Amino acid sequence: MPSSSRDSDPAGPASLHPEIDAAHVPRHVAIIMDGNGRWAVERGLERNAGHREGIESVREIIRACRDYGVEVLTLYAFSIENWNRPKGEVSELMRLLEEYLETELAEVMEHGAQVRSIGRLDRLPPSTRRAVEHAVAETADNEGMKLVFALSYGGRTEIVDAARRLARDAELGKIDPEGVDEKAFASYLYAADLPDPDLLIRTGAEQRVSNFLLWQIAYAELHLSERMWPDFRRAEFEAAILDYQRRERRFGLTSEQVRDGEADEGGDS
Ligand code: FPP
Repeated sequence: MPSSSRDSDPAGPASLHPEIDAAHVPRHVAIIMDGNGRWAVERGLERNAGHREGIESVREIIRACRDYGVEVLTLYAFSIENWNRPKGEVSELMRLLEEYLETELAEVMEHGAQVRSIGRLDRLPPSTRRAVEHAVAETADNEGMKLVFALSYGGRTEIVDAARRLARDAELGKIDPEGVDEKAFASYLYAADLPDPDLLIRTGAEQRVSNFLLWQIAYAELHLSERMWPDFRRAEFEAAILDYQRRERRFGLTSEQVRDGEADEGGDS
């Protein structure tokens, strides 16, 4: 099988995999980047070496998403539970994130990508928060791919934050509780303007959703990779897209209904 698994040149797109249907690439890909620690330990290295190598995968996957025309890429960079990790690992992750945002901003601008973040940013160290806010502000007018970093993020926390803001608006009479449906509720989530993920990738040979985008992944296709994140590169991403393109997305309908093009608003909205 021919493969285009080489890394792409940051200056220009690499050739595309001949079996990928460019018209049916997922609009939104979300990734749980797991396995950095194990990747390092397996090589007799300290865990932080895995996080550093993981940044290479971040670069390569962003380039691949650009080449395939993915509209939104959401990366689970730091979960709200990750605050409980050893202090040294947390501060190295924060440092890496800052360094990444500072050094990659030029390439992100070249891609025309827009950096966004979701999560409780107020818990980040001030310098990390400043780096995130700077990247978001600098790229705010870009019209290319949306590059969303989930930082200090938890899916349940996001739902609680949305419920709290909704309750406040109800108290102020801005919203009628009787009129709250799925669409209205979703408008209170962190990045309400973005489409739900079509494809959720998890690396690191685990089979959990780990509190990631709990509301938004209701109908996402799952691709679970045995690769540790530092080993998840363009070829693995292409395999995930091919896997996605083999699925039939039914959204609760029957195969016959999907073939006949029947679609209705589901849920309570
Ligand atoms: C999970 O691996 C990964 C993380 C907690 C952080 C992900 C961070 C990076 C890829 C680097 C920095 C990110 C950006 C966006 C610049 P793990 O440590 O849980 O691995 P393990 O399950 O093998 O212990």
